[in-house]
Amino acid sequence: MDGNGRWAEKRGLPRLVGHEQGAKSIRACVEAAIEAGVEFLTLYAFSSENWKRPAAEVAGLMRLLERFLDEKVKEMKKEGVRLQAIGRLQELPSSCQRKLAEAIASTETNTRLTVVLALSYSGRTEIVEAVKQIVRESREGELSEDDITQDFFSAHLDTRNLPDPDLLIRTSGEMRVSNFLLWQLSYTEIHVADCLWPDFGKDDFFEALADYQKRNRRYGGI
Ligand code: FPP
Repeated sequence: MDGNGRWAEKRGLPRLVGHEQGAKSIRACVEAAIEAGVEFLTLYAFSSENWKRPAAEVAGLMRLLERFLDEKVKEMKKEGVRLQAIGRLQELPSSCQRKLAEAIASTETNTRLTVVLALSYSGRTEIVEAVKQIVRESREGELSEDDITQDFFSAHLDTRNLPDPDLLIRTSGEMRVSNFLLWQLSYTEIHVADCLWPDFGKDDFFEALADYQKRNRRYGGI
């Protein structure tokens, strides 16, 4: 959800105002996803690298996350949205962890759309953690080399219960993957929208889907 800072700076406003506005864009995307019959929507809300930002911005983002959870759970329940999260959630402030766990538990039986928040998330760290877990299982004598298949590896990632993404939408014209779902994106189609995330609305979401529909996915075949 890129471009919140630039959106604010362009208006002479503090970066946090851009993040607040960015949090508002989420609603339009969730509505558009439901309308289009999308089953899984993952939002990259906070990367492991984002901890390097000034303490005031990090604290503001955590407050925003708590507010988002406080305000949106009721709506998510009403709309049949299931909330999930990936990333090193244990690194979040304990009040965020608690609210997140409550929101996940209270929406777990919903089936219309799964919204996944990537929080304190790093694709490389996720892969390293999976390798460590596999080494532990191997030490316990439970594994042979042939057990280690792609499916087996996928089952050790945070996304074990989620399908690989069909489409990655990146806003504000950035052409990078930025440590997001590195394993899972191997054959994901990419759509780059020029607008900044706070300006990204339903129409932009539908435009991304229309762009995706034009793609011919060959998965390396012909
Ligand atoms: C990247 O834009 C955005 C973030 C690091 C934070 C994204 C968070 C939100 C949209 C709101 C909070 C999320 C939830 C779920 C409540 P940037 O700050 O890097 O923008 P820039 O590239 O223009 O500087």
